[in-house]
Amino acid sequence: MTKNKTVINVCMGTGGMASGGAEVLQAFRAELEAADFPAIVKEHCLAHRVGCRGLCAKDVLVDVLTDGAVTTYQFIKPDMVPRIVTEHILGRTPIAEWQVGEDYKNFHHKQVKIVLSDCGKIDPEDPDDYHAVGGYGTARDVLTEWLPDEVIAEIKASGLRGRGGAGFPTGLKWELGRKARGDIKYIVCNADEGDPGAFMDRAVIEGNPHAVIEGMIIAAYAIGAHHGYVYIRAEYPLAVERLRLAIDRARRRHFLGNNIFGTIFDFDIQVKLGAGAFVCGEETALIASIEGQRGMPRPKPPFPVNKGLWQRPTVINNVETLANVPYIMRRGYRWYASHGTERSKGTKVFALTGKIKNPGLIEVPMGITLREIIEDIGGGIEGGKKLKAVQTGGPSGGCIPANMLDINVDYESLAKVGSIVGSGGMIVLDEDNCMVNMAKYFIQFTQEESCGKCVPCRIGTKRLLEIMQRITKGQGKESDLELLETLSNSIKATSLCGLGQTAPNPVLSTLKYFREEFEAHVREKKCPAKVCKDLITYSVIEDACKGCGACLRACPAGAITGEKKKPHKIDPELCVKCGACFEVCKFKSVGRD
Ligand SMILES: Cc1cc2nc3c(=O)[nH]c(=O)nc-3n(C[C@H](O)[C@H](O)[C@H](O)COP(=O)(O)O)c2cc1C
Ligand code: SF4
Ligand code: SF4
Repeated sequence: MTKNKTVINVCMGTGGMASGGAEVLQAFRAELEAADFPAIVKEHCLAHRVGCRGLCAKDVLVDVLTDGAVTTYQFIKPDMVPRIVTEHILGRTPIAEWQVGEDYKNFHHKQVKIVLSDCGKIDPEDPDDYHAVGGYGTARDVLTEWLPDEVIAEIKASGLRGRGGAGFPTGLKWELGRKARGDIKYIVCNADEGDPGAFMDRAVIEGNPHAVIEGMIIAAYAIGAHHGYVYIRAEYPLAVERLRLAIDRARRRHFLGNNIFGTIFDFDIQVKLGAGAFVCGEETALIASIEGQRGMPRPKPPFPVNKGLWQRPTVINNVETLANVPYIMRRGYRWYASHGTERSKGTKVFALTGKIKNPGLIEVPMGITLREIIEDIGGGIEGGKKLKAVQTGGPSGGCIPANMLDINVDYESLAKVGSIVGSGGMIVLDEDNCMVNMAKYFIQFTQEESCGKCVPCRIGTKRLLEIMQRITKGQGKESDLELLETLSNSIKATSLCGLGQTAPNPVLSTLKYFREEFEAHVREKKCPAKVCKDLITYSVIEDACKGCGACLRACPAGAITGEKKKPHKIDPELCVKCGACFEVCKFKSVGRD
């Protein structure tokens, strides 16, 4: 940031765009032009599109950088822009009531940004912007001053582990890739990101695709690959567009292609679109999909690092893993390893969602406590409700109950309590969430996404889902709980790939920590959180009913009868349990049991 420059940053990540970021950006441009801003400012004034800065709940976020100071505004709409231009940019008086508050500052205070450090600052479509903050210069230095083995040693020493879920040491994977025999090798960036609720990789690519490209260049050099692929789901149109643009522009600047950075090293990247199947994120299925075959996993070994794409040695790394690489190479392994714990180094990006005041994208040092994430960064639970659990690791992960909030968030600590760091999904659940229903949701997801190749996963997840369905319908049997455990354990032990091997985890962890909720569903035929429709009964509390008729008018099933100013009645045979009467009654006269 330079004095006397006026810069306006409009959040244009997916969250920003969805909240009208493009219109806000346009309004700034129009307003500044109409105001005939003084020539010097016009020259310097730059309204550029920045990627996600993480606090999507406050979009559209706008930074105004003027006179060497930054002012951040929240919830900006196009009709608010004229006032910002008049009072702040022209009048030099920031508008206090539109600025972000304490919670915005807290949201950033406990975070450590490495992967996301340039997201929200640079224009993701302009390689020069990334170049200006040191980007691509690192790859050039690596290619001209480092030997491949030295690069591998640096990454090994940094302690970087794969962020795609399994946490495999990246330096070791590269070493295996380098040693693998073959004149043609590949580096593949896994941007499939299929976990429900996860958007870390999408945000990194939307915010700074250049860091991923630079990470791939360095990885390719280290292992001796000249071809790279980014496998990205077609459902991420903005990320795909920005990635393609970034690759194209990097190519024009000779950061990709033949003799990159004027060296003898050739490397180029191709983008491959995936159709959105969760299983295609699994590395062997991903390889099959790139090769044009049906995306199905195959047994390992051989591992891709020896026999991957077209039987050639292939190193597959996650988006976040690769985006860490330029920063490690630029600032050194000691700096990187100074963040995190003994065995889990660096930071991790999480998509914090669910019943939390500040949902959004966060990057935290490994080892931070779950409490710090939920209370300090997330601002606590929405609507003053009680925290029940935090689900980490998506469909392969598990639930951590509220009484374990002081647990450290790192690979080892989460595994100890039956969950995983995973790729970074973090869903906060409160007292209104039914844990049985939540586990059913995840098993339904994996059952639908099972590729069907092996029996334990194809049939086993179907049977698991059927049991969960009958429990949530009040048809569960006492023996179902034991059956759930036995079946889950055998699916885990016998499935071919990671999808089946981890699919029962949400069921097992909820059974372990929330058994009483399962028991209430099975024994009492009750859903304590009042979520499972079939276990809820609506009735009018006669003494409290004023006969206002609001419920009668709201009922879509014609299940309510009654005269004005007299207690109404619900016919349980006609009631479809939509809950409209419960919501609409101002006198709390509709009971839900
Ligand atoms: C069902 C399934 C889905 C997966 N989806 C992804 C994904 O979307 N992105 C990803 O990077 N890794 C995913 N993985 C893990 C990959 O197979 C692989 O381990 C990872 O891309 C390696 O990169 P890393 O070492 O940098 O973590 C998935 C694994 C399984 C079993
Ligand atoms: S475990 Fe499931 S997803 Fe994996 S190969 Fe078997 S059927 Fe397919
Ligand atoms: S829950 Fe829905 S269907 Fe049932 S009585 Fe109330 S409004 Fe009617």
